[in-house]
Amino acid sequence: METGISRVFCIGGAAVDRKYRALDALRPGTSNPVHTERSFGGVARNVAENIARLGLTVSLASILGEDENGRALLEDLQGLGIDTRSMSFSDEHATAEYVAVLQPDGELALGLANMAIFDGLTPALLHNMEPDFQTAWLFADCNLPSETLHALVDTARRQSLTLAIDAVSTPKVARLPRDLTGVGLLFLNLDEARAYLSEPEASPEKAAARLRACGAERIVLTLGEAGLIVADRSGIHRIGAVGAKIVDATGAGDALIAATLVALLKGRSLAEAARLGAAAAALTVESTASVRPDLSFALLEATLSLRANTTLEREPS
Ligand SMILES: Nc1ncnc2c1ncn2[C@@H]1O[C@H](COP(=O)(O)OP(=O)(O)OP(=O)(O)O)[C@@H](O)[C@H]1O
Ligand SMILES: [Mg+2]
Repeated sequence: METGISRVFCIGGAAVDRKYRALDALRPGTSNPVHTERSFGGVARNVAENIARLGLTVSLASILGEDENGRALLEDLQGLGIDTRSMSFSDEHATAEYVAVLQPDGELALGLANMAIFDGLTPALLHNMEPDFQTAWLFADCNLPSETLHALVDTARRQSLTLAIDAVSTPKVARLPRDLTGVGLLFLNLDEARAYLSEPEASPEKAAARLRACGAERIVLTLGEAGLIVADRSGIHRIGAVGAKIVDATGAGDALIAATLVALLKGRSLAEAARLGAAAAALTVESTASVRPDLSFALLEATLSLRANTTLEREPS
């Protein structure tokens, strides 16, 4: 059964990622020759790009600075066919930037993040987008300020909208309300789940059940190369990762979210959708790019049938 909706409205982070890889072992306090790469990131932006590549209509609402980074990011979104009419611009802050300084072997030596601009994604901005929410599923990431996340969950609950949320990181998951009623789908890893629940020892199954008890309808709790757990009304299922030769893990979680949402919108069950999500994540860790340029729904289905080592187990609930 299809849902009748074929559009996703993404709200949250969009950033420029810069990688500086040292040619020789890094020496602090002096100039080090590096190889430089620029790409575009941010959870909501990555999810939107993955969804566009999977063939669905998608809008992105984020905030950019009036600078070269912002212009390049916007132009890239438009080239991907992403609806940018709800993008905002700040005359106060620079476009969000994440800088990674890497050792010659790829190990992170230093990360630098300038994300202050996201404070400008206020509840008032959401208000102007509400007419667009009615015919779409919503996806938000926890780069949004806490009051904006609270307002969005409240809107979803009051208007019976389907809202998916990604936790982003252990500090940022704390921005979510304690009452998760209105959250249709919550994507998070085990560390983020434990941080939100203040239960550092919780098992994945226990954490998923507790998050459902907080009011979230469906939980997708990821476990890195061990795969993931999904929980909904029907119980808890464990889903194995799809085998992959890891090249660069960046973007795995974002690909998983996009493919899961697209498959659910195509009428697949949560467990089936998450298996396709795991395939998208596996394809992404095998690529240096944080979003695979060759991603398609057909590629996901082919990957699943070729690498059929994924296990689907039903847990007693
Ligand atoms: N080495 C791997 N091999 C195959 N699949 C992987 C691997 N690492 C991650 N995945 C897949 O990606 C999914 C998400 O990964 P993970 O649990 O690391 O998310 P995360 O911690 O939120 O990472 P991210 O930084 O991408 O948001 C996993 O559920 C799994 O399906
Ligand atoms: Mg993640």
